[in-house]
Amino acid sequence: MANKVLVINGPNLNLLGTREPDVYGAETLADIEAKCQTLGGELGLEVEFRQTNTEGEMVDWVQQAQGVADILVINAGAYTHTSVALLDALKATKTPVIEVHLSNIHQREEFRHHSYVSKAAVGIIVGFGGFGYEMALQAAKRIIDNA
Ligand code: DQA
Repeated sequence: MANKVLVINGPNLNLLGTREPDVYGAETLADIEAKCQTLGGELGLEVEFRQTNTEGEMVDWVQQAQGVADILVINAGAYTHTSVALLDALKATKTPVIEVHLSNIHQREEFRHHSYVSKAAVGIIVGFGGFGYEMALQAAKRIIDNA
């Protein structure tokens, strides 16, 4: 592994830019990825960015990250609030997990207040929009350097 960070994005995050911009902002996922690639380069991290609308694919990616990625950054979208399967995969992996949400899920509907992902995360970043991903890379760098 070479300071590798795998960033997993869940359902509907491919729609960023047009999806509820009042909640999620005007940036597209490609915009956020570009900023992460730039920052990753500055921090000496290899950043791989993925998005899927499928719960099982997220589970597969978490399983496959073991021994390949040093850190997992995950915005599981709505599966955050529903997926025990994703929680089980995150608990099974030895790869440290950083949870990110663009919006402040605690300020929103009650059903978004609970996160299964949080139970397996070393830390959580919510409410900073796309910048939260850059914050997660800073945190990833610190975890890797202190390992
Ligand atoms: C989200 C918050 C979730 O509640 C929602 O289902 C999403 C996006 C966020 O980044 O703010 O799809 O994960």
